[in-house]
Amino acid sequence: MAEDPNLLVGSSTYDDAAVYRLNDETAIVQTVDYFTPVVDDPYTFGLITAANALSDIYAMGARPLLALNIVGFPCKTLPLEVLTEILKGGADKIKEAGALLAGGHTIDDNEPKYGLAVTGLVNPNRVVTNAGAEPGDALILTKPLGVGIITTAIKGEMADEAAYRAAVDLMAALNDRAARVMSEHGVHACTDITGFGLLGHLSEMITAGGTGSRIFLDQIPVLAPARRLAEMGLIPGGAYRNLQYLGEKLHWDKDIEEVDKLILADPQTSGGLLMAVPGEKAEAAAAALRAAEVNGDIIGEVTASEEPLIYVAR
Ligand code: CO
Ligand code: CO
Ligand code: CO
Repeated sequence: MAEDPNLLVGSSTYDDAAVYRLNDETAIVQTVDYFTPVVDDPYTFGLITAANALSDIYAMGARPLLALNIVGFPCKTLPLEVLTEILKGGADKIKEAGALLAGGHTIDDNEPKYGLAVTGLVNPNRVVTNAGAEPGDALILTKPLGVGIITTAIKGEMADEAAYRAAVDLMAALNDRAARVMSEHGVHACTDITGFGLLGHLSEMITAGGTGSRIFLDQIPVLAPARRLAEMGLIPGGAYRNLQYLGEKLHWDKDIEEVDKLILADPQTSGGLLMAVPGEKAEAAAAALRAAEVNGDIIGEVTASEEPLIYVAR
């Protein structure tokens, strides 16, 4: 990593974005994210991709300012209207976030890829990182889990319209309100939940913070159709890999079923924020999230531990 005292957040703490201090009042936050389509509808894919890219800005406690498109597109095999729709979805979501879409770059590619590089601003004293969780903090999650399972079911044509809508609406939802509540309640640490699932991102947070954690299965919100689909075996390969990767770091109550373990490891696209909130502020933060019509579920707590272990209880 570059040694520059103004680089407040680099690549050493599994953080969501880089933060560079310009002066006492202002730091810039930069992030980039892109992927292949998670849904067939190009406009919806654009919405989801932009919401996901913005999420890394929100997770740092910053506000988005500028975004640039990154596009790979098979110009010879897909109609150009598909690309237009993807970009329209991205542009609409950036606008909803109050940021500016200021250009981008497209290359010819075998399969469509879309993403955005986003720049945000934050007061350098108010940067929220992945490190900083303290024993006694409550863990709050702002979106239910299960979109990886549902998108797997969509690809297998096993999801009904209601499941599709639930997953798509959730993935396209900005984490802006969750981030605002977070900054008002002095959280110690935050990350957004994406490909490593709840367990993977929690593991990064407690590793960076030098703590352990205990979460309660029955308090963790899951999209209604996801468990039923998971029971049918519609589970993305990433969920198995995430569980296997964490291995010995996970300690399960003995009556927890395999399907529930996989749900907690389900890779999310544009998932919610996971916050470590000082214990005495947790109820107020959860209530403020619910008042902002965001999930405010207290799912567990940060514990003192030599090892970054995750205990999962009922
Ligand atoms: Co992230
Ligand atoms: Co990211
Ligand atoms: Co160019």
